[in-house]
Amino acid sequence: MAVSAAEFRTARTSSTAGAGEMSGRVRSPALRIEGLGKQFDTPQGPLIAIEDVTFDIKEGEFVSVIGPSGCGKSTLLKILGGLTGDYKGRAFVGSDLVSGPHPAIGMVFQEESTFPWRTVVDNVAFPLEIQGMRRTERQAKARHFIELVGLKGFEQRYPAELSGGMRQRVAIARTLAFEPKILLMDEPFGALDEQTRLLLGDKVLQIHQNLRQTSLLITHSITEAVQLSDRIIVMTYRPGRIKRMVEIDLPRPRTSQVVSSDAFGHHVAEIWSDLREEASRGMRDAERLG
Ligand SMILES: Nc1ncnc2c1ncn2[C@@H]1O[C@H](COP(=O)(O)OP(=O)(O)OP(=O)(O)O)[C@@H](O)[C@H]1O
Ligand SMILES: [Mg+2]
Repeated sequence: MAVSAAEFRTARTSSTAGAGEMSGRVRSPALRIEGLGKQFDTPQGPLIAIEDVTFDIKEGEFVSVIGPSGCGKSTLLKILGGLTGDYKGRAFVGSDLVSGPHPAIGMVFQEESTFPWRTVVDNVAFPLEIQGMRRTERQAKARHFIELVGLKGFEQRYPAELSGGMRQRVAIARTLAFEPKILLMDEPFGALDEQTRLLLGDKVLQIHQNLRQTSLLITHSITEAVQLSDRIIVMTYRPGRIKRMVEIDLPRPRTSQVVSSDAFGHHVAEIWSDLREEASRGMRDAERLG
């Protein structure tokens, strides 16, 4: 999805407002959804994408949502991001009821979202430019985040000169550059091979370690979810409901080396047994319809 200037303008204006509200005396969760449901009207009739989903995420917590294709994960994220309306239930960012893009939230989308006509540094500096930050200041900040995602040396390249994984890192750096308190990421590494994912996962772990952002990650990869998360929400096939919440008690700081531990293998097996059932339902459904 291309991220328009207008979207950035609304998603970002004063991150400090959101931050202040969230660190107020009454500490509410950083994110909360209550009884969330979303139905789409399609030519084949109404389609219930998600139903009765309730959970909250504490400040600084890293939570992943995993579930079969079509179970409503992106829909859930777009509701929290204030990009989709007309749903049942309530969504909160801190104590604010979601009614549009919240300034405390930064999003990384499932689809490719770099601007092909801008260099890496100008891509990353874009939201800061929209904010009105001076050129030297925004370029310096952009360079810092480019280095953080491991792209130092590529500042003057164009997206077409980079690999898919590098472009996704540009998109992540661009979201990080405006320093959102909350990060919503929709399969940011979806198109990448397993090794690159694990290594990028290390970057995400490092960034989370440094910045302590509240993070909600949508992924299809069980290993990625276990590697990164404090908690994993397993969703059912359509309509998407919460099937299980799994606490990942692996010690932090973590690196991708954690994948060889017994505890890691145990969590992966546990989640796969839940997910297999749901993915099989999804596959049977697709065969029936197709
Ligand atoms: N704008 C829309 N209009 C009609 N149906 C929609 C719309 N957006 C999503 N859907 C349907 O809602 C369901 C959930 O979609 P969603 O994109 O949230 O799934 P997902 O879990 O993110 O899937 P994937 O893992 O493939 O990305 C799907 O069946 C999809 O076809
Ligand atoms: Mg999706």
